[in-house]
Amino acid sequence: NLGKNKEQGPGGAEDERFSQDEHEDTLTTRQGHPVRNNQNMRTVGNRGPATLENYDFIEKISHFDRERVPERVVHARGTGAHGYFETYGKVGDEPVEKYTRAKVFSGEGKQTPLLVRFSTVTHPAGSPETLRDPRGFAVKFYTEDGNWDLVGNNLKVFFIRDAIKFPDLIHSFKPDPVTNIQDTERIFDFISQTPEAMHMITFLFSPWGIPANYRHMQGSGVNTYRWVNEKGEAQLIKYHWEPLKQGIKNLTQEEANAIQAENFNHATQDLYEAIDRGEYPEWELCVQMMDDHEHPELDFDPLDDTKIWPEDQFPFLKVGKMVLNKNPDHYYNEIEQASFGTGVLVDGLDFSDDKMLQGRTFSYSDTQRYRVGANYLQLPVNAPRKHVATNQEGGQMSHYVDRPEGSNPHVNYEPSTLNGLEESNHKVTPHQPYAEGKLIKETIDRENNFKQAGERYRLLKDWEREDLINNLVNSLKPAHSHIQHKMIQMFSECDEDYGKQVANGLGIDVDLAKASMNEEFGEEITPTKGKLPKKG
Ligand code: HEM
Repeated sequence: NLGKNKEQGPGGAEDERFSQDEHEDTLTTRQGHPVRNNQNMRTVGNRGPATLENYDFIEKISHFDRERVPERVVHARGTGAHGYFETYGKVGDEPVEKYTRAKVFSGEGKQTPLLVRFSTVTHPAGSPETLRDPRGFAVKFYTEDGNWDLVGNNLKVFFIRDAIKFPDLIHSFKPDPVTNIQDTERIFDFISQTPEAMHMITFLFSPWGIPANYRHMQGSGVNTYRWVNEKGEAQLIKYHWEPLKQGIKNLTQEEANAIQAENFNHATQDLYEAIDRGEYPEWELCVQMMDDHEHPELDFDPLDDTKIWPEDQFPFLKVGKMVLNKNPDHYYNEIEQASFGTGVLVDGLDFSDDKMLQGRTFSYSDTQRYRVGANYLQLPVNAPRKHVATNQEGGQMSHYVDRPEGSNPHVNYEPSTLNGLEESNHKVTPHQPYAEGKLIKETIDRENNFKQAGERYRLLKDWEREDLINNLVNSLKPAHSHIQHKMIQMFSECDEDYGKQVANGLGIDVDLAKASMNEEFGEEITPTKGKLPKKG
């Protein structure tokens, strides 16, 4: 009905929302001015020049200039969907309340709304989704006790076990600072000095490093968390998402190349179209549990995220399932601005002393205050879907205060006797882990860097192992020989055959490589790919 105007507007004759001749579909500026000409700038004559007081043009173009916030420093390329989590009310065969008082798990058949964002890690926002990379699997549960974020990956282990190494790891995988090209020599230069990465590298260079799409992959919390029950007793916990109806599917490098030649958005498209068709993907959430202590009987540390907890000793216990049943209405608002973090836990869920987890927990909200802004938690996608009442105010883009109607608007502090916000008087038995020791900078005992990597190598199917060796050989070819030799030494430590296969592929005598020491190759180390800029 194009005839709608001030008199005829949907609100009737008194509808003040519309100025003259304006109707629902009339284009306006953000100031509410009707736009009468959206095709031409205001200029001196129809050939220009333009004028600076041209407010409508400047408002439009300067908003456009700010359409992007900085992309995530990692996990920039992603997609997401809404859905729900449904409880089984049990952990394996036992009542879940025995181990955690988190309400998100209690009762059977209880649904909690959630948001998922899947991503690749290293490559920028518009990069092909076929690239070899771990995949992010981040879930935000909007629980009755506030938000819980489970920020995981598809693979069950990670490259490093100490958060201080993360910027170096990522720099080695990101493009060369001079050429701006990803360079496998730089990657393996770093990895050859990072033996704890061998387990992850074995996964990553096999077909497990290119999941067929986001629906057909697993998820894992990777780091070790805690569950806390009513008595304040804790268990160590690892989380795993297992695809239900869809199953697991990975790609060889050749298959990925073929897809990439045709479509660089295949994973986003697959998820969007499946949900659009009503084919809702589902994952079952399983946990592994351990008593909360150091477990000296194990040959690895339960807080070491480069290790899996063997399933035969620590079985996967089902606790519920997730269904993704709604695509975002607006990608940017709901997915790009979504902000997940490992610090976002609810009562009954806790951290462990896992050093990676502690580093991550600082990093996420720190980067989000920079990437999205100080008030990122006021955005609908990040805000909890429950009562929020704080004395936080101001900052960029502040547009409401959290204090409820009825509380004294003059009181933005606590404690107060003038009807301000008050602490909750609901008491819980706290979990109070005891910590004592010297402050030191040291790696953990029980590093055991190669055993599980070797087991993984032997567990791969033949075609997976073949693809792994091909991918490693191709990636190591451009590297200096001392890096190739060091990598062959480490592959051999994992499994003799593993080292031999990579050495053969590179045309290197495995025994020579194993006998060589780093220092022998020291003289070869010259920058080959460009010169570092001089300071000053
Ligand atoms: C994203 C830091 C390890 C999974 C990010 C972001 C940062 C970060 C700064 C960008 C967040 C944003 O802009 O919103 C770190 C640090 C780590 C670490 C410092 C190690 C100390 C890990 C590990 C996992 C992981 C081990 C897997 C368990 C993710 C995921 C995202 C992400 C899934 C994307 C979340 C989303 O979709 O918005 N990480 N990370 N990270 N990280 Fe980590």
